[in-house]
Amino acid sequence: MDANFPAASPLHVAVIMDGNGRWAAARNLPRSLGHREGVKAVRRIVECAPDLGVGVLTLFAFSVDNWRRPRHEVGVIMELMAEYLRSETDRCVEEGVRVTVLGCTQGIAPALQAAVREAQARTAHGKTLWLRVAFNYSSRDAILSAAARFRRDRDRSRAAFSRLLAQNGEHIAPDVDLLIRTGGEKRLSDFLLWEAAYAELHFTDVMWPEFGAEDLKCALNDFRGRERRFGTVGRAAVGANEAVPAGALAWLE
Ligand code: FPP
Repeated sequence: MDANFPAASPLHVAVIMDGNGRWAAARNLPRSLGHREGVKAVRRIVECAPDLGVGVLTLFAFSVDNWRRPRHEVGVIMELMAEYLRSETDRCVEEGVRVTVLGCTQGIAPALQAAVREAQARTAHGKTLWLRVAFNYSSRDAILSAAARFRRDRDRSRAAFSRLLAQNGEHIAPDVDLLIRTGGEKRLSDFLLWEAAYAELHFTDVMWPEFGAEDLKCALNDFRGRERRFGTVGRAAVGANEAVPAGALAWLE
């Protein structure tokens, strides 16, 4: 393991798992097989994430706009999600992986809703990794719904709004530190728009079915080389203000 892993404090990494369809098409395979291989990549990443210093992992599995895909493909993704939850819950309990699903559970099959409830309940005490799966999810919808409740809230702080956005009980996920998108596209696709306000972005051409521990390490190395400024000046610029002529900043006062 690299000397700089794990990180001092656990990170929140979010992933837009893109490229399943193109991975399959490049091999003359049906898109559904690309999604099936994508689930294998999910297993690989969940397994290696804690050792690499990741404490919270949020994966974008199905957006509300993905309903517009061909019926068969939507059915396959639903089935894969149910299969994943059924087959991985025991292992998640053993490994201390807490699973929660964010997104709207209404509109998905009752059997899948039940699998979500069971996985969430059985893994609720996991401490090694918090795996959040965004399913039937839209960040804008989540913000709209939180905003409606926020109007009735006395506390008008950002923290209070973040609490409203977190849909799963008392645990509030920290803001996203690193957002990865595989598959070569460079957009956010309505994913964690509030939570990723200060996330570092890492885009890779690797298609999701091929993404593995080495790729996650590479993204984390990239992240650790960045200077996170959160709107302040960089380390190199500290002291530069001393050179500003007296009175030049008077309009700020
Ligand atoms: C994007 O690739 C991928 C999806 C919309 C589905 C991702 C779903 C899974 C990996 C399976 C279920 C997830 C879990 C957590 C068990 P794309 O189809 O848009 O790829 P393309 O851009 O190449 O067409």
